[in-house]
Amino acid sequence: MNQPVFEVVGVTKAFGERVLLDGANLQVYQGETLAIIGESGSGKSVFLKMLAGLVPVDAGDVLYKGRRLADMDRVAMDRLHREVGYVFQNDALFDSMTVSENIGYSLKEHTKKSDEEIRERALVCLDMVNLRRTAIDDFPSGLSGGMRKRVALARAIAIEPEVILYDEPTQGLDPQNITNIAAMIAELQHSLKVTSVVVTHDMRTAFGIANRIAMLYETRFPFIATPEELMHASAVPVREFIDDAMEEIRELFAHEAQPPA
Ligand SMILES: Nc1ncnc2c1ncn2[C@@H]1O[C@H](COP(=O)(O)OP(=O)(O)O)[C@@H](O)[C@H]1O
Ligand SMILES: [Mg+2]
Repeated sequence: MNQPVFEVVGVTKAFGERVLLDGANLQVYQGETLAIIGESGSGKSVFLKMLAGLVPVDAGDVLYKGRRLADMDRVAMDRLHREVGYVFQNDALFDSMTVSENIGYSLKEHTKKSDEEIRERALVCLDMVNLRRTAIDDFPSGLSGGMRKRVALARAIAIEPEVILYDEPTQGLDPQNITNIAAMIAELQHSLKVTSVVVTHDMRTAFGIANRIAMLYETRFPFIATPEELMHASAVPVREFIDDAMEEIRELFAHEAQPPA
């Protein structure tokens, strides 16, 4: 395969007694969509933040395009944040800002674009995530869950990133919106030719859009496979995780199929 965009080498991370990572290794290759699955609380969000340099490692290294994050000065780290879009868990939209201001936040931080140019870019990004342009001056609190996720996506792509990191992009959505957001991630991947890392609980999304799936399990990534391989994996932790996740999906969709009372 081609050059890794991110390389995680022997990374260790603990919060007090709680050891999340202990000698974890993982590569993210240019142009791929890598899904990261694993139990709730296993450290997936912390791991994703480490890739973006938002959380420091205790030991080991994270490299971006061959450079250690630990060696990066402010300028290099700013550049990383211009090149790497981030969709935070639970949207993390700024409720005091309009949709336009939310989408334009990184552009204002990292570029010299005028307010007019930023607004224009925000409109284009709304188109890209299939949101009506009239939402541009709305506040996030007035939007549905599915719309908020789209705004979060639009905010991540506004800087024209090379890499997009998604933390649970379909969490808390109804089945229709899960399908829509997953399709949108696949479409962005295709049209923008980005590298994507998608942390997700949702196996439909993982299997639907990923080239490779890595399972965070007991502080490392012992299972990394294609969706096809993973579906037929016999390793017990993987089987249990997949079977549980499939059961959840069946319940979600069975519930959704009920006629309204
Ligand atoms: N800043 C922090 N300080 C202390 N503990 C933290 C911090 N961030 C995360 N944790 C703990 O690390 C564990 C893993 O968190 P997280 O990465 O959010 O898991 P996941 O995303 O896999 O559900 C949790 O038990 C959480 O409480
Ligand atoms: Mg998380």
